[in-house]
Amino acid sequence: MSGFVRELELRSGPSLRLLQRSGGVGCVVWDAALVLAKFLETGSFPLSRRAVLELGSGTGAVGIMAATLGADVTLTDLQELQELLAVNIDNNRHLVTGSVRAESLEPLLKTLRELTGPDTCVLCCYEQRTEGRNPEIERRYLELLQVDFELERVPLDQHDEQFRSEDIHILSIRRKTKNSPL
Ligand SMILES: C[S@@+](CC[C@H](N)C(=O)[O-])C[C@H]1O[C@@H](n2cnc3c(N)ncnc32)[C@H](O)[C@@H]1O
Repeated sequence: MSGFVRELELRSGPSLRLLQRSGGVGCVVWDAALVLAKFLETGSFPLSRRAVLELGSGTGAVGIMAATLGADVTLTDLQELQELLAVNIDNNRHLVTGSVRAESLEPLLKTLRELTGPDTCVLCCYEQRTEGRNPEIERRYLELLQVDFELERVPLDQHDEQFRSEDIHILSIRRKTKNSPL
């Protein structure tokens, strides 16, 4: 598969090599992926031997980083991204200390509802955009999410010192505990 490689240097020395290609939004490494991958590398969210599910992996940058930190990772994206994910898993397998595999999944919120339990923590990282319909879509997404989930913003000073940005947010998302009606 042709494309161009985005290198992401690990604190331990070597670099992840992530193939990007032309195509849809999932074919390049987004800045939010760099921020979340580098946040995981800070170690404030220990991953060794944890089961990690990444939704909308694109090139797989975040999930593959988690797998280098000892997590057992399932990368997910639409069918058309599966080949790119497979290439990136293969290219970086020598750096993985946990495990990593790729799958395709149905829409995001349905998936979140079906796969989360009371002890599941979901990390969501996204770049805030102000143009066009983006603010409206973000507002609607957060509104829908909060029907079943509680959201907490990870403060900027806890992100990686270099890979952080005011407009890239990391949310920690947990399933709401069911309260009986008053
Ligand atoms: C903006 S890209 C981000 C990719 C990657 N997480 C990153 O930050 O570099 C959003 C990704 O979500 C994926 N996606 C969109 N709808 C999806 C769905 N219903 N199920 C799984 N993945 C989906 C897209 O294919 C795309 O790869």
